[in-house]
Amino acid sequence: MFIWKKEFELGIKSIDEQHKCLLDLGNRINELLVNHDDDDDNYDEIYEVIEELRAYTVYHFNTEEELFLKYNYPEYHAHKKEHDDFVAFLKSVNPEDIDENQKGFLKKLLAQIVQWVFKHIITTDYMYKDYLLRIGMK
Ligand SMILES: [Fe+2]
Ligand SMILES: [Fe+2]
Repeated sequence: MFIWKKEFELGIKSIDEQHKCLLDLGNRINELLVNHDDDDDNYDEIYEVIEELRAYTVYHFNTEEELFLKYNYPEYHAHKKEHDDFVAFLKSVNPEDIDENQKGFLKKLLAQIVQWVFKHIITTDYMYKDYLLRIGMK
C-alpha cells in the first residue's frame, strides 16, 4: 500500500493530482498482487491495469512537457528523455510474461514502477517545481 507523502508534493495542484492518480494505480496493482492466489487467472485484470497505467503515464508526461514548453523550462530535453525511457519500458512489458507467472510478474513490475515513479517525482520533477512556481503556477 502506497501512501501519499508531503515530500511528493510540488505545490502545483494539477500536477500533484496527477501524481496521486499514478500512486492510486500503483495501489491497484498492489491489491491485485495481495489478492492473487497461485491458481487464480487474473490475466484480464492485470492486462487492463497495465494498459491504464500506460495510458495515464503518457497523459501525465504530456501535461508536464506541455508546461515545460509553454514556460520555456530549460531542462525540457533531459526531463523528456526520462519520460520517454519509462514509456519505452512500459511498452516493453510483454503480455506473455503475465500469463506464465502472474504473481512474479506483478511483483517485479510493481517494484520497477514504484521505484521509478517515486524517484522521478522527488528528484527530476522536483527540479521544475521552483521554476514553475516562480513564474506563478499554482
Ligand atoms: Fe511527474
Ligand atoms: Fe516528470
